[in-house]
Amino acid sequence: MTAVPYSRITGTGGYLPPRRISNDDFVALLGARGIETSDSWIVERTGIRARHFVDDGVNSSDLALQAARRALEAAGRPAEDVDLIIVATSTPDMVFPSTATILQAKLGVHGCPAFDVQAVCAGFVYALTVADAMIRAGSARCALVVGAEVFSRLLDFDDRTTCVLFGDGAGAVVLEASEEPGIVATELHADGRHSGILCVPGTVAGGQVLGQPLLRMDGQAVFKLAVGVLDQAARAVLAKAGRSEADIDWLIPHQANIRIMNGTARKLKLAPERLVVTVDEHGNTSAASVPLALDVAVRSGRVQRGDTVLLEGVGGGFTWGAVLLDF
Ligand code: UT7
Repeated sequence: MTAVPYSRITGTGGYLPPRRISNDDFVALLGARGIETSDSWIVERTGIRARHFVDDGVNSSDLALQAARRALEAAGRPAEDVDLIIVATSTPDMVFPSTATILQAKLGVHGCPAFDVQAVCAGFVYALTVADAMIRAGSARCALVVGAEVFSRLLDFDDRTTCVLFGDGAGAVVLEASEEPGIVATELHADGRHSGILCVPGTVAGGQVLGQPLLRMDGQAVFKLAVGVLDQAARAVLAKAGRSEADIDWLIPHQANIRIMNGTARKLKLAPERLVVTVDEHGNTSAASVPLALDVAVRSGRVQRGDTVLLEGVGGGFTWGAVLLDF
């Protein structure tokens, strides 16, 4: 295979497990534990109205498979054409093997490289950047890039400050070698000094779970960092591409909190209708949130071929990044 100038998204797909949990369902669920919450608090502070949870026995690879099949169908590609699989997830089916290899087997293909990327809520932006680099280097021509999560498995239902925020789901894109853009620029960052503000500080050792296997977050610290780094990443990726804020047709940031998303759009002087919002119905699906939102925007006819789209991720690690693309 030879190097090509660009990689380009040729199909998108998304999947949410059917079980929808509304804020009122959460009021009842937490109420039974003697913990107060309300639809109005959750909506005002986060923009979330509902999220979807998997049933027992359903794993990230199951959600990834549905999203991947839809993306392949949209791209008009059989699974046999895929020569690279990258799954962004922090909720893998197992410690190992990777969810990507499990997905490969479920797709009924074998032989191509398949691996996971772990960058929490920035995972999809990281995975897309890796796939873009491999395609441009000539290492692959047709990549399946997936974000898939079952964050419901990590939630502490005695902690109202975190358990209402997250949901399960998967989003996928088919990314192919192209003579035309495509992905125009990417920007990735991490700062491990902040690893403690959003983490699941448990591990598996000696046949036991050691430490705390539930999600912990200092919400205000994450909020402040996210607002700053999302703006920096947007400006850096635009500068790399030689473009300006005025060139952005659609902003698709990580879907964690509507206040962070609106703030990011305002700083980029984008009209509110240019911001793609799914956090209201999906909650925060971590690495799945950006490809799920992209798929919703494409299937609803908002994102059209040729539109310039800014994808942004931010999350635990601390990790963040941006991808600028002409769809
Ligand atoms: O995915 C990676 C990226 N993650 C994020 O971007 C998350 C960033 N952080 C946030 O989105 C926000 O910080 C939160 C939504 C997590 C919290 O919003 P906040 O405006 O920072 O609220 P807070 O933590 O300052 O809490 C305000 C009050 C507290 O009560 P007191 O101490 O003022 O009496 C909380 O106990 O709200 C209370 N509270 C709740 N009340 C009802 C916290 N959670 C709830 C709840 N229901 N679920």
